[in-house]
Amino acid sequence: MRVEDAMETINAAVQAAVWAPSVHNTQPWSFAVDGEEIALRADSDRKLRLGDVMGREQLVSCGAALMNVRLALRALGREAQVRVLPDPDRPALLATVRLGGAVEADEHTRLLHAQIERRRTHRAGFTDEPVPGHLVEELVYQAAAEGARLTPIRDEAAVRVLAALTDAAQEVQSQDRLFTLEVIRWGRPPGSTRADGVPAESYPREPRRTRPHFAQRDYAHGHPWGGESDQFAATSTGLVAVLTTQADSREDWIAAGQALQRVLLHACAHGVRVAFHTQALEMFHLREFMRQELLSGENAQMIMRLGFTGDEGVGVRRPVGEVLEDRGI
Ligand SMILES: Cc1cc2nc3c(=O)[nH]c(=O)nc-3n(C[C@H](O)[C@H](O)[C@H](O)COP(=O)(O)O)c2cc1C
Repeated sequence: MRVEDAMETINAAVQAAVWAPSVHNTQPWSFAVDGEEIALRADSDRKLRLGDVMGREQLVSCGAALMNVRLALRALGREAQVRVLPDPDRPALLATVRLGGAVEADEHTRLLHAQIERRRTHRAGFTDEPVPGHLVEELVYQAAAEGARLTPIRDEAAVRVLAALTDAAQEVQSQDRLFTLEVIRWGRPPGSTRADGVPAESYPREPRRTRPHFAQRDYAHGHPWGGESDQFAATSTGLVAVLTTQADSREDWIAAGQALQRVLLHACAHGVRVAFHTQALEMFHLREFMRQELLSGENAQMIMRLGFTGDEGVGVRRPVGEVLEDRGI
């Protein structure tokens, strides 16, 4: 492959990577290129110091970005040779991806790849239309293919417990001044030109309650921000699901991120949007409670609601030039 062609492929892969979801849209990653190899690094300046002490959410976010790189390379006709955490002496180096031999992308890869820039986080209720059972099964399969488990929570009492834990965590976090400042830092005012943070147009100005209600993060913090589009009008909770892994190492967090992204893209391809509520996972005792009492010893990596909504939502990202360094790994 010519050097220019390889660089074009790598650029396209990083362009896809940046559209991954990340906690508060921190985009906590950077990329470097060495020949035909891409290095994915965790950007420690973009880790949440209070919300994400262990760096778990950062690695889940970077795992999602890694999935996009894999999909993009395959969609562009190249095998992706991935090494996760390749060097124990360099913990910030999360993965290397080498351009492998030529492959023809299968239909599913192309389908997922086509959703990467379209997928958006939802922050309100859903319509009453249920997520079809066969689609839920497919989503469970998508997570399993990456070594994680997606468990739909069908038991109403368990859904109420998860909603209550989310509420409790949100309540406790909002009483903590420093924690609140960290969330506000990533709230993006209307009309802002910032290329990161949560856009004011991506959540409702006056949120309607679902039953049970899953507390939203307070990105507006008392400001009259937030959108008024139809996508925020529905009031069904949707399908609640938890993404878990058996163990809880850094490798598991990266795997969970890849699984998450596969689930989200597959859902998006079938018109299903997803809302996240990870407040309780940022509190050690609540996450441990979930592990022991609700999840049969599995470790929660993501709490989400899935369903149908009106329109698509908005997204912002830093340009590739800001996250990609063209020098040796
Ligand atoms: C690990 C992780 C945790 C997240 N937690 C929440 C959350 O608690 N509440 C929320 O509204 N969004 C949450 N999100 C979604 C991000 O805010 C969202 O991905 C980011 O703002 C980018 O927007 P987009 O997904 O619409 O492209 C989370 C995403 C990740 C990857």
